[in-house]
Amino acid sequence: MAREWNAVEYEDLSSPQTRWGAEVLSRVDLRGDEAALDAGCGTGRVTELLLEKLPLGTVLAVDGSAAMVEAAKNRFAGDSRVRVEQQDLLELRVEEPVDLVFSTATFHWIKDHERLFGRIAQSLKPGGRLVAQCGGEGNISRATQATHEVMDEERFRPYFEGWTDDKHYASAEDTKRRLEETGFGDVEAWLHDERAEFGSEEELTRFLGTVVLGGHLLRLPEEEHEPFAAAVAAKITEVEGGPILGYVRLNMQATRGAA
Ligand SMILES: C[S@@+](CC[C@H](N)C(=O)[O-])C[C@H]1O[C@@H](n2cnc3c(N)ncnc32)[C@H](O)[C@@H]1O
Repeated sequence: MAREWNAVEYEDLSSPQTRWGAEVLSRVDLRGDEAALDAGCGTGRVTELLLEKLPLGTVLAVDGSAAMVEAAKNRFAGDSRVRVEQQDLLELRVEEPVDLVFSTATFHWIKDHERLFGRIAQSLKPGGRLVAQCGGEGNISRATQATHEVMDEERFRPYFEGWTDDKHYASAEDTKRRLEETGFGDVEAWLHDERAEFGSEEELTRFLGTVVLGGHLLRLPEEEHEPFAAAVAAKITEVEGGPILGYVRLNMQATRGAA
């Protein structure tokens, strides 16, 4: 089940995700009257850009976090083209199949991609398209290494007993195969590198606490949240030579039922 997010902090800190979302959208050709679904809409910053391409269309914006859904509902209040729903994407159900499922910065939070792609296929009209981007194989690998080192420190170790990683950075090959096995055709999947540089170690600490380490912080008492994120930020800054995250993005495009 999807976990809760801090929507206020995410709205403030998600410039990298918004920039990447805009780039993915620049690859999406639309007439302007389609029905689209934004899978993992967050606070709606990228959904808003999708809506610019759909003056006569509709968007069903779905997210698993109640706080994110509330923020997106507030953002789109009064826009009759948008409906916002709280749903787990692994249980995704739509009243009417859509022309486009769009998603950015979300699928790596979901471990079972076979099931996810199955639910997405069910939500698309035959001939409908999936266009998505998420973290892929090798994503923020130095930050992940730094996180493991901090988790292993005496102060934090007891909180992480039995921890299994909460993200899934899939490869392009596995993603292509999974989409084809789900019945998608015209499948393309590829990785590319991105870099996010933050203004200071403190800004990186806030970003990590809100975006990257949200699942970790759930294990820690409130008073350890900032020290844990700050310790990870310090290690990353040391190895990267600055407050930098080295991202690998996994891109995918596919058509339902074209196989
Ligand atoms: C990093 S945010 C991305 C938000 C937005 N797409 C963007 O690019 O800014 C990831 C979002 O995925 C949502 N999410 C993660 N797992 C989910 C699931 N199983 N079902 C629905 N939403 C999920 C989270 O609640 C969060 O809002």
